Amino acid sequence: RGDRRKLVVGNWKMNGTRAANDRLLQAILSGWRPLQHVDAAICPPFVYLPQLAETLASSPLIVGAQSLNPRANGAFTGEISGEMLSDCGCHYVIVGHNERRRMQSESDLYVAEQFLAAQESGLTPILCVGESEQAREAGNALDAIGQQLRVVIEAAGLEAFSRAVVAYEPIWAVGTGKTATPEQAQEVHTFIRGQFGAQGNGLVILYGGSVKADNALSLFAEPDIDGALLGGASLNAEEFIAICQSAE
Ligand code: G3P
Repeated sequence: RGDRRKLVVGNWKMNGTRAANDRLLQAILSGWRPLQHVDAAICPPFVYLPQLAETLASSPLIVGAQSLNPRANGAFTGEISGEMLSDCGCHYVIVGHNERRRMQSESDLYVAEQFLAAQESGLTPILCVGESEQAREAGNALDAIGQQLRVVIEAAGLEAFSRAVVAYEPIWAVGTGKTATPEQAQEVHTFIRGQFGAQGNGLVILYGGSVKADNALSLFAEPDIDGALLGGASLNAEEFIAICQSAE
């Protein structure tokens, strides 16, 4: 696997209160044991970014955001720019999550703009790709993922992926309790890596979709699975810690 570090990212989605976040973060920090080969990050809702940046400032945990508007600051009511995220202490930002592609109608092109804007603001984009259940059943999973990647590669160039992370999240596995088998995920991760030529060797590719402490180890054993993007499991301190440790 070369010298790729593992990465575990918790996507809290639209969950939390200031008090609940404090409890969860204190539980994570008090149970944390230093990791040598794994980076860990948490992406809370926008409004809690300052709270996390402050609480995690002297910890090994990194802060990220769940989305961004690709435009520069200006008259865009209700939106959040990459510049604001950097200013609030974010390192990562998720782009192209399937919940946003579907619920906010974010297109491949819009995701490519977000990817570029993230990098221009000094953030590391975590680009999510993944197929629907229909596409998988029709045997079109790799085509669908290839298309999602191609649009971003055409806009940003291969070299841009030396400062990016890709996450494979099969839509049918997100929040459903149905995980891709390690073999299914490995097949897609190999395919994704293959889209980047020599650049692919250094690319960190995460798996996301119902990862839990009890299936993480078998996923991480695959040579092209470099970590996980967690939803539900990141809201539980013990699960989150256990998954980070099993990546070590
Ligand atoms: O971004 C992570 C996510 O979509 C996976 O969610 O709850 O299936 O782990 P979950």
